[in-house]
Amino acid sequence: MILSIESSCDDSSLALTSIKDCKLLFHQKISQDDAHSAYGGIVPELASRLHAQKLPLILENLKNFLHGDFSPIKAIAVTTEPGLSVTLIEGLMMAKTLAISLHIPLLSINHLKGHIYSLFINQKKSIFPLSVLLVSGGHTMILEATKEEICIVAQSKDDSFGESFDKTAKMLGFGYPGGPIIQDLAQQCLKELYHLPIPLQHSKELAFSFSGLKNAVRLEIEKQGENLDANALAYAFQKSACEHIVQKCKLYFQFKHDKGEGIRHFAIVGGASANLHLREKLQALCKKFNTSLLLSPLEFCSDNAAMIGRVGIEEYKKENFSDLYNLEISPRNTQF
Ligand code: KG4
Ligand code: ZN
Repeated sequence: MILSIESSCDDSSLALTSIKDCKLLFHQKISQDDAHSAYGGIVPELASRLHAQKLPLILENLKNFLHGDFSPIKAIAVTTEPGLSVTLIEGLMMAKTLAISLHIPLLSINHLKGHIYSLFINQKKSIFPLSVLLVSGGHTMILEATKEEICIVAQSKDDSFGESFDKTAKMLGFGYPGGPIIQDLAQQCLKELYHLPIPLQHSKELAFSFSGLKNAVRLEIEKQGENLDANALAYAFQKSACEHIVQKCKLYFQFKHDKGEGIRHFAIVGGASANLHLREKLQALCKKFNTSLLLSPLEFCSDNAAMIGRVGIEEYKKENFSDLYNLEISPRNTQF
């Protein structure tokens, strides 16, 4: 089995995955949402301190699960990029310590690749080539993935999709993470009161942008003052943010279609892929283009070590081991 570690942001997580059949044997995650909620966003130092507390606790549980016998573990897979430097380092320290003491190799894993493989947790088979919409707190991208390589087709010029939910929730005076909060508020909207712009809607450019929409939310809050209906604003924001994604995905589908390269499989991954409105709209788009839609189970959309372990299996089979002493974190690397 492979022991995997995820600490790129605000989730401390460890998993054990069977090398033989990719079954997830152990998985635990401790989220820090409550700790960061008061600040309306992630405070890196706080996240780092909490990883230093929580990762050993989970390791203790994993040890109990193994009855103290670590011998079935053949490699340690750890997220090294991209993410927050002060939190990635916590996971890497634990990974190196385990690899040295257990005399086993280390596998360096890209977090975004992890999100793609969240589709294949508990499954031996993977589906490629695959077009992917990755929507998380740090990234908004359309990717083309094969088993060998991943290419970036489009990305955000500024804020990410998930981040724009977080900032909207913060402006409305709610906590973190904003995604589920805004989704809930929008579901309670009784009447459509506000209309916000859809970013880049008249541009044929295959790119995303959320900073203008964020500004429109701020202006509407200022304009409405005491009379603001938070449910209606959350509804308007979610509608514009999702419509922007759908319009750009449609452009991409059409572009591929015109080149005679239909898309057989399309996936939505990342923490914000849990958004139900987005899922519904993209499901309709896929149907129109005769494309199958792949989604991760909701529990594996947000950051977790199970997806890191699933990529770890692929890297282990390729013997893509890292140099234990020279392996470093690459916080800002978004290449694959
Ligand atoms: O992938 P993830 O767990 O962490 C990163 O790698 O960034 O994604 C977290 C992001 C947060 O911005 C959170 O607000 C967003 O995903 N999110 C959502 C929803 N659930 C989580 N955004 C929109 N709708 C949701 N239901
Ligand atoms: Zn993530």
